Amino acid sequence: MSKVRAYTNIALIKYWGKSDSLWNLPTTGSIGLTLDQLYTETSVKINDDLKQDYFMLNGQKTQNLKVMKVMNFLRNLTGDRRFVEIFSENHVPTAAGLASSASGFAALAMAASQAFGLSLDRKELSTIARLGSGSASRSVFGGFSIWHAGHDHDSSFAESILDPLNFDIRVIDILADESTKKISSSQGMQLAQSAPNYAAWCSNSQKQIDDMLTAIANSDLEKIGLIAEKNALAMHELNRTAIQAFDYFTQNTRDIIAATKKLYNSGTLAFATIDAGPNVKVITNSENQSTVIETLKNYGEILVQKAGPGVTNV
Ligand code: DP6
Repeated sequence: MSKVRAYTNIALIKYWGKSDSLWNLPTTGSIGLTLDQLYTETSVKINDDLKQDYFMLNGQKTQNLKVMKVMNFLRNLTGDRRFVEIFSENHVPTAAGLASSASGFAALAMAASQAFGLSLDRKELSTIARLGSGSASRSVFGGFSIWHAGHDHDSSFAESILDPLNFDIRVIDILADESTKKISSSQGMQLAQSAPNYAAWCSNSQKQIDDMLTAIANSDLEKIGLIAEKNALAMHELNRTAIQAFDYFTQNTRDIIAATKKLYNSGTLAFATIDAGPNVKVITNSENQSTVIETLKNYGEILVQKAGPGVTNV
C-alpha cells in the first residue's frame, strides 16, 4: 500500500462559485501556487471484507460525503465495486486549524486511483481531486498551476504553469483566531453567487487570469501580488453584497490588510490575499520577508512558505 503526499495551495486568482455542484465545475478558471509547509499524507487499500469505505482522518473515524463521491467515481470508472480503507493525516505545524481540503483530495485522488490499479496522468488526477474539492485540482501540481473552468468532467482540469519557479516568492501566513462561526467555502460561494456584481466578477476574473499568466511568465512579483490582492478583495466584497450577506473578515483581518498596504506604499513588496476565513496571507519575496514579518508578527503567529511540490508517493 503506497502512501501519497500532497501540499496545500493558495489561490492567486480565486475559484468562488460553481456552475455544477454535482461535478464540481467552477464558474471561472483559477490560478494557484502550491506551498511547501502544510500537507496531507494518505494511503488507500482495497479491503474485500468491507461493506462500506472506512475513512480515518487524523486518527479518527470520519464520515465524509466528498470522500464517498471520489471513491464512487473510481468504482464506476474501474467497475471494481470493492470498498477501501483510507488513512489520512494532515500535517499542520501549528495549532491554528489550517487543515485543508486541497491537499486532502489531491492526495486521495492519487492514493485511491493507485489502489484501484490505475496509473493516471496528472491532468486526469486533477479531475478526480476536483470532484472532492475544487481547489484540490491545483494541488496535484507543484508551483503555479491553472484550473480551467471547462464545461464537463473531462474539460475541467488543472495543469502546470511553472514548476519549479525561476524567481523567488514567499507566502507569509498570519494566523488569526478561527473561533468565529465558520461558513464553509462551498456554502460561502453559493451565497456569493447572488451578489449583484457576481457576473462582473467572473468576467473580470478571466482578464485577471490572462494578466496573471503574463506576470508569471515575466517573473513580475509586483504584478502577481497586485492582481492577486485585487482579485481576493473583490471576492470578499461579493460576500458582503450577497442577498444573504456575510463576511469572513474580522477586525484583525482588516488591520493586517491595512498594514500590508502601508508596507507596499512605503516600498516593500507585500500583497494580501484571503481565502474562506479570517487569515491573511501576504505575498512577498525573501528580500522583503523580514520587513513584512517585523511589521505583522504582532497580529498573529507567522508561518513562512515557499513554492512546494506536486502530489507524489512517499
Ligand atoms: C476561497 O475548493 O474548498 O479557497 O470545491 O466546495 O470544496 P469546494 O471548495 P474549495 O474552495 C476554495 C475557495 C477558495 C479559493 C480557491 O482556493 O480557489
